[in-house]
Amino acid sequence: MQQKIIILDFGSQTTQLIGRRVRELDTFCEILPYNKFPVGDESVIGVILSGSPFSVHDPEAFKVDLSQFVGRIPVLGICYGAQFISYANGGKVEKADSREYGRANLCTFDGDNPLFKGFVANSQVWMSHGDTITAIPEGYKCIASTANVKFAAYASETQPVWAVQFHPEVFHTTQGTQLLRNFVVDICHSRQDWSAASFVDTTVAELKAQVGDDRVILGLSGGVDSSVAAVLLNRAIGKNLTCIFVDHGMLRKNEFRDVMHDYECLGLNVIGVDASKKFFADLAGVSDPEQKRKIIGRDFIEVFNAEAKKIKDAKWLAQGTIYPDRIESLNITGKVIKSHHNVGGLPKEMHLSLCEPLKWLFKDEVRRVGRQLGMPEHLITRHPFPGPGLAVRILGDITPEKVRILQDADDIYIRGLRDYKVKLSGEEARRVLAAGVPANMKDGEIEVSLYDQIWQAGTILLSTVRSVGVMGDERTYEHPVALRAVTSTDAMTADWAHLPYDFMAKVSNEIINKVRGVNRVCYDISSKPPSTIEWE
Ligand code: XMP
Repeated sequence: MQQKIIILDFGSQTTQLIGRRVRELDTFCEILPYNKFPVGDESVIGVILSGSPFSVHDPEAFKVDLSQFVGRIPVLGICYGAQFISYANGGKVEKADSREYGRANLCTFDGDNPLFKGFVANSQVWMSHGDTITAIPEGYKCIASTANVKFAAYASETQPVWAVQFHPEVFHTTQGTQLLRNFVVDICHSRQDWSAASFVDTTVAELKAQVGDDRVILGLSGGVDSSVAAVLLNRAIGKNLTCIFVDHGMLRKNEFRDVMHDYECLGLNVIGVDASKKFFADLAGVSDPEQKRKIIGRDFIEVFNAEAKKIKDAKWLAQGTIYPDRIESLNITGKVIKSHHNVGGLPKEMHLSLCEPLKWLFKDEVRRVGRQLGMPEHLITRHPFPGPGLAVRILGDITPEKVRILQDADDIYIRGLRDYKVKLSGEEARRVLAAGVPANMKDGEIEVSLYDQIWQAGTILLSTVRSVGVMGDERTYEHPVALRAVTSTDAMTADWAHLPYDFMAKVSNEIINKVRGVNRVCYDISSKPPSTIEWE
């Protein structure tokens, strides 16, 4: 039986990060809404309660019946989780005098407690809470404090319950992984048998059993998820897999040709469909971002379905859906900002069953599985790219000429990011390594490209704007492009990347000199929120 840790989600921004950190310990985990603990599931070896945007005193705060698991399996409460355990057992949680936010150090901790095995004096932790615990329940003891937070961590004296008010899952908590390892491996006794190699073996066997001799269709996007799903299925069922890759004309420069070549080298049975004329015709004169998305989504399904129907005896539709796409979000705001389109469904009359081989994996695990399958590094580390492609990176209406200008500018930028090497150390190096970038640590440093250091980069054509410039002796009156690069772990929040000035100078020069139609280059220094990653 596959052991698992359950992470109960109380709505924190970092819940998924807890999941990823547990998986990095080669341990399977599931993130479930706070009120969906799987009572009676024998494979659960421990529970983690996440943080939350709420105070335990808010009338709408999420509450859980702790007796479902306390005393049965080990429990770790993080931030709100820690405050809730205290509050529910008769401790006291009150508004902190000032919001406790940012770095702090554990000035005292109980070195004999298994949660702190291997901890060094003054270990740095990350705090982020408005409430604080002012009294812990009877039968519990304080096991760590910072200068400002007396109950930074506490534990039950009689039951396997631990609670920390800081966030071990974030990188600023320097021994956070050690703490989670102490909980998951030493306290919950994880066998640590969840790895890319074991995933490939079991999934290939499961796919063979699930699909048998049936034919399967899969929509490829050029992105890492659908590509890894295809290679995995190809290993399981070979030529019974037919992949369809639709070119809507708004991919990056030469991307369709290059990616088709990669897929053929990987031995995939892939049909490439150049449908760019149809997309350009249907998008002509459309400027509204949501309209563009709708047209592209609709056309995509139409083109994909027309191809899929030609594969007469297909029984399955495979998709590269990954775990974060499926985690039941608590959606606290309930508002839609952008309607993202993904590969759409097929007509009901085709009666296809859904096959989602990556549905339990986080993005970094997908990358590890890709490497395990021997896929080329440039396919694996490719940045996320929106389904509607450059259409949402051209402000205003779309024409083939505007796409050509943007492709040329973007190509210079992306090649520049790949070529420019940087040395990283400390938190930055750990963050990049944990995202699955292959690099060797030497003397506390790693060398990676700027491309690998950031989550996502792209160029935006401000085609609704013109500005004056001068080239040679000629006046120019052309469009600016904006360069965007962000660091992120999940695209939910993102910081603009602090790219080196000499890099920006070189790229700006090259774009203005080489790309006809562009006479100005700007760099986008907005973070998400309040901005989004894409401009449209
Ligand atoms: P935003 O712009 O919402 O983007 O901050 C978050 C992430 O989603 C990607 N994105 C899309 N992906 N279809 C997609 O498949 C879309 O319509 C779409 N819009 C944004 C974006 O590139 C980023 O990774």
